[in-house]
Amino acid sequence: MKKVLVTGGLGFIGSHTVVELQQRGFEVVIIDDLSNSSINVLDGITAITGKAPLFEKIDLKEKTDVEAFFEKHGDIMGVIHFAASKAVGESVEKPLLYYENNLNTLIYMLKSVLKLDVSNFIFSSSCTVYGQADTMPITESAPIKPAESPYGNTKQIGEEIIRDTCRAYSHLNTIALRYFNPIGAHASAKIGELPIGVPQNLVPFITQTAAKLRKELSVFGNDYPTPDGTCIRDYIHVVDLAKAHVVALERLLDGKNVSNFEIFNLGTGKGSSVLEAIQAFERVSGKSLPYKFAPRREGDVIQAYADTTKANEVLGWKASLTLDDAMDSAWKWERKIRNIG
Ligand code: WQD
Repeated sequence: MKKVLVTGGLGFIGSHTVVELQQRGFEVVIIDDLSNSSINVLDGITAITGKAPLFEKIDLKEKTDVEAFFEKHGDIMGVIHFAASKAVGESVEKPLLYYENNLNTLIYMLKSVLKLDVSNFIFSSSCTVYGQADTMPITESAPIKPAESPYGNTKQIGEEIIRDTCRAYSHLNTIALRYFNPIGAHASAKIGELPIGVPQNLVPFITQTAAKLRKELSVFGNDYPTPDGTCIRDYIHVVDLAKAHVVALERLLDGKNVSNFEIFNLGTGKGSSVLEAIQAFERVSGKSLPYKFAPRREGDVIQAYADTTKANEVLGWKASLTLDDAMDSAWKWERKIRNIG
């Protein structure tokens, strides 16, 4: 079996990707430092797939630990690198934590991957690199705008580090995947999103409000230049997103990439407003969601949704699940973890 390393593999997108990799027949080894995930996620992955992935608790900021890991696992055929801090607001308060954790770790990973017999690397990037794009839908050739946060800057700098490294080392093959807004959970409700503390993102805040953990949802701004005044995003089901990572990895393993650094947007291609997201939740849950309009949130872009042509026609992947599917799975997951019938 082909062995694949998934860093951050106990996180939200990482765990769903491990499930898809194992179901595709890959042998998976997970590295996670458990700073923003739980070891119990390993049980969820095992319950879904019938196979426990290998797991090592390693802080990727420890260069010698990264080197020791690759000494032991020289037979790795590909790396999917999710491990990073990703809270936009926190990155503004603690920029050095974000630059150290997101960039030092990337550099140490790349230095080790370069020494493998097979150097395939998938990078977890984000639509945040576009900032407020001038035209919708957003294509991969849209200009990179000055980052709105240190978090977004670490994704931009990360892509530049990879670009320069690929230029210097032709044997390193990489794909950067720019996620739009990942939401939802696995249909089994055995894994899902586990935000720590008050959720910053919309969908976990919606489901926690419906579960009565939060009093009401604050809609950050209803005076934007959009049809209903609220911001528009491209909400992509995390399972569709996970499947895209398997397709991207197989593209590299099969040598189908046309350059050694490719970039793909991963979205549905459909923009949905905050109010439309709320309506989708109410439709699938049958519950009325308490919310109020609140002032705009600093750093929010008005709208961002993907042009998925390149992912569909070059990568050969297309999202198939809908906003309703994602909301339904998110609500099922919330009810499961809160023991709500
Ligand atoms: C979506 C919309 C909010 C919460 C961020 C990161 C991005 C990626 C996904 C990591 C916005 C509105 C939200 C709430 C609200 N993360 N909202 N009330 O900001 O588009 O993207 O998460 O890669 O990089 O930037 O996602 O879910 O926070 O917000 O009205 O309580 O929901 O204003 O319009 P965002 P989000």
